[in-house]
Amino acid sequence: MDLGLKGKSVVVTGGGSNIGRGIVLAFAAEGANITIGDIDEGQAGKVAELALKQGAAGVQVLKTDVSQLDQVKALMDAAHTRYGSLDAVVNNVGWDQLMFFTQSTPEFWDKVIRINYVGVLNCTFAALEKMIPAKGGSIVSISSDASRQGEPREAVYGGTKAAINSFMKTVAKENGRYGIRCNCVCPGVTIPEFDDEVGGTSMWAKPLFTPEQLEKVAASLPLKKVGRPRDIANAVVFLSSPLTAGHVTGQVLSVSGGYSMIG
Ligand SMILES: NC(=O)c1ccc[n+]([C@@H]2O[C@H](COP(=O)([O-])OP(=O)(O)OC[C@H]3O[C@@H](n4cnc5c(N)ncnc54)[C@H](O)[C@@H]3O)[C@@H](O)[C@H]2O)c1
Repeated sequence: MDLGLKGKSVVVTGGGSNIGRGIVLAFAAEGANITIGDIDEGQAGKVAELALKQGAAGVQVLKTDVSQLDQVKALMDAAHTRYGSLDAVVNNVGWDQLMFFTQSTPEFWDKVIRINYVGVLNCTFAALEKMIPAKGGSIVSISSDASRQGEPREAVYGGTKAAINSFMKTVAKENGRYGIRCNCVCPGVTIPEFDDEVGGTSMWAKPLFTPEQLEKVAASLPLKKVGRPRDIANAVVFLSSPLTAGHVTGQVLSVSGGYSMIG
């Protein structure tokens, strides 16, 4: 099915590893023009090469730290200048280290908030600057099921993701009049298939869970399996397409094997 994304200009942040990599490759299969913003230029470059082989109309990589607004503005400018528009943005970057709240420090809180929440504010602000005059576009933020129910060892992270859900609903309400749709996808545990799907800056560079822990997670889920990047990417492409989700905005969609079920 043609999802209407052929030749569209799409920005994916954190497109070098794991879920972001899967999102880039899913847009590539749709023939999109893709701009990847990642702090790990080398790993993102490898994904760009693969994306071109798998059908992307064009791919460029910009070394970008999403916590810095000037760098994010340069990223959106680069997509707009090279591909003539900015049709879809995926705020995928996120960062955490698992620990109990009482073990964490204010420096850690600050880092989590800056990357996860300020990063989404920066990207959304810079995206809207381009999308409002063009009267259209889609923004999808990758949140987490940790935003929907408390998750031990993810206190500050879960808080930033809950903030993202609320923020995206507000920008959906404020910008629907311009034809701009804003949605969230909440993954559950989502692991790379192969080691080379993550770079050194990925949270998965060192395994976050032992194989036994992953088995337990899978057994606890209604679908009895953990997620793969492609699972999340399919939902992102669905929400980004004006054909499949042209009347969908302000929504928070869990893609987590049934971990959370919110009515
Ligand atoms: N993987 C999971 O189990 C899981 C579960 C729930 C939610 N999520 C969310 O999904 C998203 C992707 O997760 P992932 O597992 O693929 O992460 P990952 O750590 O594997 O990859 C993150 C990517 O972002 C890049 N990055 C990190 N900090 C950056 C910054 N400041 N600026 C630009 N790029 C930066 C890294 O270089 C890397 O390429 C995140 O928002 C995460 O919170 C993941």
